[in-house]
Amino acid sequence: MAKRTIMAAGNWKMNKTPTEAVEFINGLKDIVTGCNSEVVTAVPFVCIPGAVEAAKGSNIKIAAQNVHWEASGAYTGEVSCEMLKDLGVDYVIIGHSERREYFGETNEMINKKARAILDAGMIPIICCGETLTQREQGVTAEHVRYQIKVALLGLSAQEVSELVIAYEPIWAIGTGKTATDEQAEEVCAIIRQLIAELYDNDVAEKTRILYGGSVNAGNAKALFSMPNIDGGLVGGASLKIDAFEKIVKHDQ
Ligand code: 13P
Repeated sequence: MAKRTIMAAGNWKMNKTPTEAVEFINGLKDIVTGCNSEVVTAVPFVCIPGAVEAAKGSNIKIAAQNVHWEASGAYTGEVSCEMLKDLGVDYVIIGHSERREYFGETNEMINKKARAILDAGMIPIICCGETLTQREQGVTAEHVRYQIKVALLGLSAQEVSELVIAYEPIWAIGTGKTATDEQAEEVCAIIRQLIAELYDNDVAEKTRILYGGSVNAGNAKALFSMPNIDGGLVGGASLKIDAFEKIVKHDQ
């Protein structure tokens, strides 16, 4: 079985102007040339054109942080998959806990978004993760399994083998309180096991499962070395070139 390529994905959230995005990508691209990880930056919608242009010819791929599932129509303020694809976007983050919490996104909506992203020829990065209360009450596995089960409804084995899942415990996001390597590994293994149940072992071995939640230059290596963790979805530490470089090059 071929080894899964580690992904270092930065989620900028609502940070950086289009000008700052271009400066950042220009600064990052030479530094990460030839690295072993797949490098992705998920930028705000308005930064996408400049980021794609700046990343041309480099090994940096550009992701969006959200999308609407409908092809077009009266959805004021929304952006379609075709629009993102046309700009040169490769990946789209969906189901981030901030979108679930502040914008009312449901598992069913995330499933529709995954379908639309795949139909448009892009790859979804599907986020899941439990609250601190859920962890303390011992329902983490059930909660995450349910989130992923609904998100994947109707997707083919081939599609699931190509997409990316990010396990992001909500209590670890932006708090500086990283899950231990073992806690992160345990849930990523549960997700892989679920994919094996829903599809088969071959699919489960191919799907990349990232950890997110206070990943930084100091903890990336140990986290990414766990057997079921295939990289990270990084918030705060992806906004500074030197910190993100160390995460990308965690194995060097
Ligand atoms: P932090 O790395 O800032 O904790 O954010 C994680 C995250 O939400 C990435 O999507």
